[in-house]
Amino acid sequence: MYKYYCLNPISDVGLEKLTEEYVPAGTMEKADAVLVRSANLHDTEFSKNLKVIARAGAGVNNIPLERCAEEGIVVFNTPGANANGVKELVIAGMFLASRDIIGGINWVQENEEDGNIAKDAEKAKKAFAGCELEGKKLGVIGLGAIGVLVANAATNLGMDVYGYDPYVSVDSAWRLSRSIHHAKTVDELYQGCDYITIHVPAMEQTKGMIDKDAIGLMKKGVVVLNFARDVLVDEEAMVDALLSGHVKHYVSDFPTPVTAGVKGAIVIPHLGASTEESEDNCARMAVKQLRDYLENGNIKNS
Ligand code: MLT
Repeated sequence: MYKYYCLNPISDVGLEKLTEEYVPAGTMEKADAVLVRSANLHDTEFSKNLKVIARAGAGVNNIPLERCAEEGIVVFNTPGANANGVKELVIAGMFLASRDIIGGINWVQENEEDGNIAKDAEKAKKAFAGCELEGKKLGVIGLGAIGVLVANAATNLGMDVYGYDPYVSVDSAWRLSRSIHHAKTVDELYQGCDYITIHVPAMEQTKGMIDKDAIGLMKKGVVVLNFARDVLVDEEAMVDALLSGHVKHYVSDFPTPVTAGVKGAIVIPHLGASTEESEDNCARMAVKQLRDYLENGNIKNS
């Protein structure tokens, strides 16, 4: 009977299938199979028994892939399983950047005790006025499961969507989303868009891709959204651009000391995939892959 260990809480809906037939290992050292969400495994020693790691999420930058390959440990992730949850938060991020919802909520909380809200409401309307997304240009960098969903949702909001992905052909992205105009280069996307959202994995080629030079090409007043990974953005350069007003808002799902408290930074504590539905989907997919590997030897990452 295989032993499993969950390094992070994983949705019960997914785990049901494991607990029926497998037993909890109690510790990582005794596990044949490990389920993980965001815990960092780079400095973790693996047991001799460990055969498989299933990551309930898309990014695998918390897992030492080379070491796993050397030690014969199979690694799965759950591409697409939380894409809808992330997409919805990206769209919410665009709304937060274009309408001062947070400023308005804070204003009401601060003023309701005085009973002056009705009198001062006209002032608030002016102070918290925003702009609409319809008709604005959105650049989507990375046309995987999340990027394509964001592109489609933004199109439905009336945005003009441009996509760029060096690994996805124009034809295949076109099949997934009829709404994407294709930017031939990422520079073309930087130069033309009012909102830019990044949906690429953290790899050597993508680390720091949104740097001073990339930001310099962007339009003044651009909104940049990062729900992919913190390391994709040179945050020192981003903060300079926020302070100078070149970037109007940096909406990030990664709290870091660099952006903390900076005007224009809208930072969320990595909540993109934190919905009941996404957590259930990821857990179900992770458990299915893990069992299919242990019981049938199948390596199918979907
Ligand atoms: C992902 O890579 O899909 C996310 O980091 C998921 C999560 O929040 O666990």
